[in-house]
Amino acid sequence: MAHKYRSLGESGRHLRLGGYVGFDSLPNQLVNIRKSQGFGFNLLVVGESGIGKHTLVDSLFKTNFEHDQLDQPAKAVTLTSNTYELNETGVDLRLSVTHSRGFGDQVNNADGIKPIVDFVDARFDEFLQQEFKPSRDLKSWIDTRIHACLYLLTPTGHSIKSIDLLALKELSTRVNIILVIAKSDTVSRSELDEYKQRILNELDDNNIKLYSFPTDDSDDVAKLNEKLNAEVPFAVVGSRTEANLGGQRVRVRQYPWGIVEVENEAHSDFPKLREMLIRTNMDDLIGKTHHGHYEHFRQQNFSKLGLGGNADSTVSEAYNKKLAEHEAEKQRIEEAMRQTFVARVKDKDTELQRAGLELNQRFEKQMRQVKEQLKEFEEQDKRISTELEAIRAAMADLNKDKKKDKKTK
Ligand code: GTP
Repeated sequence: MAHKYRSLGESGRHLRLGGYVGFDSLPNQLVNIRKSQGFGFNLLVVGESGIGKHTLVDSLFKTNFEHDQLDQPAKAVTLTSNTYELNETGVDLRLSVTHSRGFGDQVNNADGIKPIVDFVDARFDEFLQQEFKPSRDLKSWIDTRIHACLYLLTPTGHSIKSIDLLALKELSTRVNIILVIAKSDTVSRSELDEYKQRILNELDDNNIKLYSFPTDDSDDVAKLNEKLNAEVPFAVVGSRTEANLGGQRVRVRQYPWGIVEVENEAHSDFPKLREMLIRTNMDDLIGKTHHGHYEHFRQQNFSKLGLGGNADSTVSEAYNKKLAEHEAEKQRIEEAMRQTFVARVKDKDTELQRAGLELNQRFEKQMRQVKEQLKEFEEQDKRISTELEAIRAAMADLNKDKKKDKKTK
């Protein structure tokens, strides 16, 4: 094995390795770990009723996913999620597909996007709550954040409907949007080309940014992505009908004038969509969801909570800061409550003292009154005794006089 020079970034030094170390197995290690863990991908599909959402997803994954058929138009916009465990040559994919129902059918279509936006935000919020938990069971925890939104436009051939523009404006800041023109077999190639250009102009005028396939990957991928970025939005065809063509079962749409093959690049952009979405950029979509859209959501929510939206601050720093603020506030409230309690006790003491004083004064007054009455009784008693003495003396004198009279008689 030849010794290699390694450069450590712009200011880094070149180091010569003294022999084979073995970290060239890192890519294999990563592949093995990821393979054993399995992959999770969450797809949101938005588009007006009957535009071909379910058929397109079935065609993308070459299967017919079960789903409930609606007999009547939905009264409100709803979202239905289903999760499927798929396996392809030993690689497990946990695919969650959420379909919007009733979008574009409502009387007030302007509000139609709200349940969809709320749904995307709620998935981010679930992840944020997990991050705040002191202990997390990450092994069993399932990431439900939406990694890509397949947005289907009606093949009008004219311009984007205003409801779609409003929805794309809202959704594009939250999720990776992959815009497609559905049922493209109903419009001619030249009409499609003009339609695509008008769509791009309108998106540009309204400053709406779609997901762009990365061009900083390995040379081959970068070249492919660069080429296909220029062909967005893909004009696609979907079907559940299969036909035997050249000894192979393929999905087709059959018309009196001929057959449209779903997987034929000459017939539609469907193969490009599958290549970009599933074969080349699934991992990038997951990464951009975490590092781009979720990060944006996290910062916005931290700002709302008063934690500051600094992109450099880690969640734990922000959490600790908030915790410290919370503790300080708790102490301040406790101190205020203690002060209020002390003041109340003091008030009570003063009140009790005043009441005691009043009681004393009342007691002394009553004692004085009793003493005065006692004095009066004593004086009365004295007076009565004196009067009794005088009566007794008078009676004695009277008796003496009576005796004297008897003797003289
Ligand atoms: P809802 O769930 O009711 O909103 O419908 P949906 O958007 O999932 O549409 P679905 O896939 O059920 O397709 C509706 C009809 O359109 C079906 O008859 C499909 O066969 C047809 N359809 C689907 N894709 C295409 C297409 O690419 N071209 C044409 N011409 N028809 C299509």
